[in-house]
This record gives sequence, C-alpha cells and structure tokens, in this order.
Amino acid sequence: MTLHPLAVQPAVKNIRFIRKGEVVNLGNVPPGRTVLELLREDLGCTGTKEGCGEGDCGACTVVLGQIEDGALRLRAVNSCIRLAHSIDGMALWTVEDIAPTLPTACGSLPPGGALRLRAGEAGSAAPAGGEVAPTLPTACGSLPPGGALRLRPGEAGSAAPAGGQSPHALRLRAGEAGSVAPAGGDVGAEPTLHPAQEAMVQCHASQCGFCTPGFVMSLFGMYHNHVSRGEPITRALAQEELSGNLCRCTGYRPILDAAQRMASLRPVALDENALLSKLELLAQSGYAQEPDSAYKLPYTLAELLRLRAAQPAAQLVAGCTDVGLWVTKQHRQFSDIIDLTQVAELRRIEVHPDHLLIGAAVTLADAFAALVNERPQLHPFASRFAGLPVRNSGTLGGNIANGSPIGDSMPLLIALGARIVLMSERGPREMPLEQLYTGYRQNVMAADEVLAFIKVPKAGSPHPCPLPEGEGVETEIKNAALSGPLAPSLLWAEKIEAETRNAARPASLAPSPLWGEGGGEGLPEFLRVYKISKRYDDDISAVCLAINLHIEKGVVARASIGAGGVAATPARAARTETFLTGQPWTQATAQRAMQVLRAEFSPISDMRASSAYRSEVLGNLLQRYWLESQGVEQINLESFVLEERA
Ligand SMILES: Cc1cc2nc3c(=O)[nH]c(=O)nc-3n(C[C@H](O)[C@H](O)[C@H](O)COP(=O)(O)OP(=O)(O)OC[C@H]3O[C@@H](n4cnc5c(N)ncnc54)[C@H](O)[C@@H]3O)c2cc1C
Ligand code: FES
Ligand code: FES
Repeated sequence: MTLHPLAVQPAVKNIRFIRKGEVVNLGNVPPGRTVLELLREDLGCTGTKEGCGEGDCGACTVVLGQIEDGALRLRAVNSCIRLAHSIDGMALWTVEDIAPTLPTACGSLPPGGALRLRAGEAGSAAPAGGEVAPTLPTACGSLPPGGALRLRPGEAGSAAPAGGQSPHALRLRAGEAGSVAPAGGDVGAEPTLHPAQEAMVQCHASQCGFCTPGFVMSLFGMYHNHVSRGEPITRALAQEELSGNLCRCTGYRPILDAAQRMASLRPVALDENALLSKLELLAQSGYAQEPDSAYKLPYTLAELLRLRAAQPAAQLVAGCTDVGLWVTKQHRQFSDIIDLTQVAELRRIEVHPDHLLIGAAVTLADAFAALVNERPQLHPFASRFAGLPVRNSGTLGGNIANGSPIGDSMPLLIALGARIVLMSERGPREMPLEQLYTGYRQNVMAADEVLAFIKVPKAGSPHPCPLPEGEGVETEIKNAALSGPLAPSLLWAEKIEAETRNAARPASLAPSPLWGEGGGEGLPEFLRVYKISKRYDDDISAVCLAINLHIEKGVVARASIGAGGVAATPARAARTETFLTGQPWTQATAQRAMQVLRAEFSPISDMRASSAYRSEVLGNLLQRYWLESQGVEQINLESFVLEERA
C-alpha cells in the first residue's frame, strides 16, 4: 500500500449513482473520500449527520439500493466509513430524499452564503432564483483535486437561488425512479412525511434529534424491506435492525414503537420497476474498466485477479468496515484501491450437498443469514455481530482476511470445519481456515492472492478437517487434565448441576436430548457459539468461543472448537479437542476439558478484559455448553426476555 500526499490526486473514474430519481455523475472524487464527506462537504447535504466517524453510532446511516438476483435490494449502511466510489452504479437515499415532498437541503445555505455543492454544469441543476424543476436533471460534474467545489448562490451549476432564498420545495413525480410516492400516486398531497419520519413524530421518538436522521434511514430500509413486502415488524426485528443506531437522550422504547407504528400509516411505495431499469442502464454503461483509474471496481473474478497481480501494492478493500476506520481515524490515504465488492463470482452463495460455498464479497448479513438457515441456533450470535449497517456493508471475506484475533466469524467457522480458497492468476489453493494465520494480523496470502471463497460444511456432513492424531499427545493431555485440581468454578458448576438434577424444575429446565440439531445425515452435532462483550449489542468480543461436538453412543466422536480473543490470531483449541475426542460426554469430562481449555491459551490483558478474566471465562463457557447440552435453558442472556420480567 502506498501513502499518497493529498496535493497530488491521482486520476479516478467518475462515480455514477441514482439519487432522487436521477443519475448523479461526479468526477475527480479522490479514492479515499467517504460517502459522508461526499454528501456533507461536496454536495452540501448536511441532513446526514456525523457522530463517531467509525461505524458505531449510526448517525450517518444512508440506504443503498442494488439489483440482486433481478430484484431491488435495499441496505442501510454507515456512510462515514463507506468509500464514495463503492456506491458507483447504485441508488442512494439519504434522509433528505425520502419524503414524498421535501425541502431541498442541498439548496440551504450555510452561514456566509457559500454553498458546497456537487459540481454541476451550467443548467444542470436549479435555475438561479427559481423553483427547482419537478424532475432533477442529471447532475454531471467534476470535483477539483482535493475534493469539494465551492459555488456561490446563483453561480452556474449552483442549486441555490441568487440572493440566498432557501429552502425550495422539491417535488418528485409519483413513480419516478427512486422517488418515494404515496401508494396510488398523488405526490405533493398529504402525507408530507415518509412513514419512517411520521412514525418518529407520532411516537415522540426524537429529542435533540442528532441521531434521528440515522434512525429514520434504518427505519426507511426496514419499511421497504419488510412493511412493503407485507412482513410484520416485530419488537425483536426492530431491536435487531436498529442495533447499529445509538440514541443518547430519547431512550429506545419510543423509537421501537415508531418502528412498529410504520405499518399502520398511509403506505408509500418505491417504483421498483423504473428504478431497476435505471440501475440496469447504469450497470451496462459502467462495465468498462478505466485502466488508469486510482479506484478499480472490477466486476469479474478474472479481472480482479489480473488487477491484483498487476498492482500488488494497491489497497484491496471490500465493505470497508475495517479499512474505513483507517481512513477516518488514522487519516491514511491510498493512491490505488481495488474494490472487490462488485465481483459477481464473489457475491454468490452456493448450496452444495455437503457444504455452503460463500463468496468472500458476500455481506456479513447475507453470509450469516445462510449460516442461520442451516443452523438456526446461530441466530442470536449472528445478530450480535456489530449492528445491521455494518453487517450490510462488511463482508465475510473481509472479516477473515483482516484476521483480527477478536473477529467473530472465525471461531465459529473454525468450529464448523470451514475451509478457505485463496486465488490468484497462478491458480487456487485451499486450506482449513485456521491455517490462514501466521501471527498477529499476518497470514499466508501472497501479494497477488485474494481470499475468494469460504466452504462451510453443512450440519451432519463429513468433517473436512483432519481429526486429532497421535496417541502420545492425546494421552499426555488427558492425563494432565485428570491429575489437575478442580477449579472453584467447577465446584460451583457441580452444585448447579446437582440442583438442576434434583429440583422440581419448570419445563424450560428439563433435560432433553439435544444432539442432532440442524439435521444432516452424518454424526449428530451440538453447536453453540458464545460472545462475551461489555455491551450486548454492537460491541467487539472480549472472548468468543464456538464449540461443536459430535456424540456417538454417549462418546465424543469428534470435537471442533474455535476461540477468539485469547491468542494473537483466531485459533483452534486443538489440545482441548484432542482431550475430548473418545471421551464419554459426562459432567466429569466437561470439567476436565474446562481445565485443558484454560491451560491451552495465554490471553493478554487489554481494555476489553484482563488475561485472568479471559482464561476464567473460557472455561466457564465450556461449562455453559455442558449445561445446554443437557437441556438446561435460561442460563444465557438470549433466553432472558426483559419485557416478560417487567
Ligand atoms: C462499528 C463496528 C462494529 C464491528 N463489530 C464487529 C463485531 O462485532 N465482530 C467482528 O468480528 N468484527 C466487527 N467489526 C469489524 C468489521 O466489521 C469486520 O472485520 C468486517 O467483516 C470487515 O469486512 P469488510 O468487508 O468491511 O473488510 P474491509 O474493511 O474492506 O477490509 C479489511 C481487510 O481485509 C482485506 N480484505 C477484504 N476482503 C478481502 C479478500 N477477499 N481477500 C483478501 N483480503 C481482503 C482488506 O484488504 C483489508 O486489509 C466491526 C466494525 C465496526 C466499524
Ligand atoms: S458517524 Fe457514527 S456511525 Fe457514522
Ligand atoms: S441522541 Fe438525542 S434524540 Fe437521540
């Protein structure tokens, strides 16, 4: 990767996207510019807010639209860490674009009268002093090196009226691509707010209002993905989809009420057919790669591999939920970027008889949906990976390639026996996921390689990873565990176990055979994955543990355990697996395995947790797993429903 001084901006291809029904075409946008910078600084659209600048608060949420499998797919994302060039070929909605009639915030003037706008050519935007035309013309423009073009009110290309009268009312025609219209037409009449906005008003869901544009956009995404498709918005769904939006003063109850209120308001609709046609046209005109562009957006795997081989020093990016922070927090700049998110082959999920093949550019949201479809018990864990806007942008391949020791997908994938496929023009190579890592954020990927696919065995399919071997090592580990003193927590665990065995228990605590969850024809598995973090939603793990045991006739036939937060890389708990394999699955075995697991890793202390805590919790999670395997419930936060207790 090369650092590039700001003064000399490399040539970049234009960005084209659809906003308010029209194609916006911008030139000279630097490769490292974010969508939020483009909106606020270049286009003067300050309705979208900046809070944290790192994907955590959701104030900057916008919605992107794309064609997927022939249909329109909307995704709420964090504009602060999303690179502007990555939205080339998509539709974009901000909080300023969704009401059937809305004021043109682009035309509102900051103090002093100077307006920062997208560069418009003469006649391309609003006439000076006049009403903005009912349809927005295509805004073609070019930003000067370094970013924004400053236009004065009334200058050619400025949407502001000479004399600074603002704002104007922009009226979109019903049915115009990308516009939001009351179902049945009638734009310009009531309602003047989108249901996402109206519900926030009706439920008193905003106080200072800083977070509100972000919430509204997450609600907008929710509305068109669920309400418009006739799906109800449950409390749980609202909570899950709003987990990436933080509010510091209103409190979440009225906001969740607003999410559920939307369905009862007068419906509005997107004209999907018109928008799809425009997106298709945009895609057709955008496939030709501009060889000298500093931001490359290949559409095929062959093209990606060719670019990677030609420019091994270029910064490879996917959803930018890690890289975006290098830009906003570390102020890193890249002279050349290769963005793999549009590579068709890498955006697919294929279901094979014994495994899922997940393309590296599949979003975390879609990848987890596929994993949850296969193993429904993963749902609570999947919904705790960041918040929805991050999962909508970040990719599974990016999480794995980034290689953070506290990355959440890797312990799970290791426990599932996932393999990865690296590709270059020289050909593919495949390996167990854990063999990717060689040290802290270091891996075996060559400069011309990319992570292309992740192969995840289906429940009950033959495990692709070699079983632990070597009688010597096995015996050594088992003996060591047998001779060790029982930790205090084990005594506690025994007590709990005895109590749950003896007491007259409610149905939810009754033991039940849980082996074989997830179906499949091979060995029945029992899979659990635990994330320990300071905050339940939208937080990074201190420790993550995924345990997948296959039991045959009461004996552990196969053990597969992935751990995060306890070593320099995500790791397989190979010693614990070896210890468990061939043992009867009993409480005594589980207790000894806890000791082996604690001894297997030497975690560090950092701001998230101390070394001692991490070790302790590792063993405790195995204890939790044992209890769950015996049918004991209500021992984790997922089974605790606050509203039922109130
Ligand atoms: C608010 C917030 C919350 C988060 N919460 C979590 C969490 O709960 N759990 C968690 O694990 N992570 C979390 N993350 C981290 C982040 O979302 C993940 O690591 C994400 O999966 C990265 O994917 P990406 O597509 O955004 O990668 P990018 O940021 O685009 O890239 C990350 C790195 O991977 C490389 N890369 C990407 N794709 C490939 C590929 N196919 N081949 C080779 N190299 C590649 C890039 O070159 C770069 O070095 C969070 C991030 C944010 C901002
Ligand atoms: S500004 Fe906080 S998530 Fe973007
Ligand atoms: S932060 Fe003030 S209303 Fe949410």
